[in-house]
Amino acid sequence: MVALLSGLLIAPAAAVGTEEVEEARLANLVIQDCGSCHGLTLRGGLGPSLRPESLERLPVEAIAAIIREGVPGSAMPPWKPLLTPEEIHWISRQLKSGALVSP
Ligand code: HEC
Repeated sequence: MVALLSGLLIAPAAAVGTEEVEEARLANLVIQDCGSCHGLTLRGGLGPSLRPESLERLPVEAIAAIIREGVPGSAMPPWKPLLTPEEIHWISRQLKSGALVSP
């Protein structure tokens, strides 16, 4: 968590052409930080699988809401203090599409 925080804090706000860098950083966050609970291949661990076949019942907006607010009473933390709405939406779309996981 400390590594995650510092990584976010030093993210260069003024860098140019960062679209890809940002995406790489977020993809890395999903694998490292989400993966610490959901498994490095997102197949599940302490938290459930986040692979597309497991998220079929949830629209992107619902996934974004879970990431934003967390799941009260469970280990799933709210990410809104750490991630912008755009970042959360991007992650939700990637989870839905399976772009971050190998087949
Ligand atoms: C500290 C452990 C932990 C971390 C870190 C974590 N999660 Fe979770 N997550 C959980 C648990 C536990 C649940 C199940 C909550 C419940 O009981 O419904 C969950 C549930 C979810 C769900 C709902 C899945 C479903 O099928 O209902 C999504 C989506 C999700 N997490 C995404 C993420 C994302 C994206 C990240 C990283 C930004 C993340 N989680 C980080 C523990 C974690």
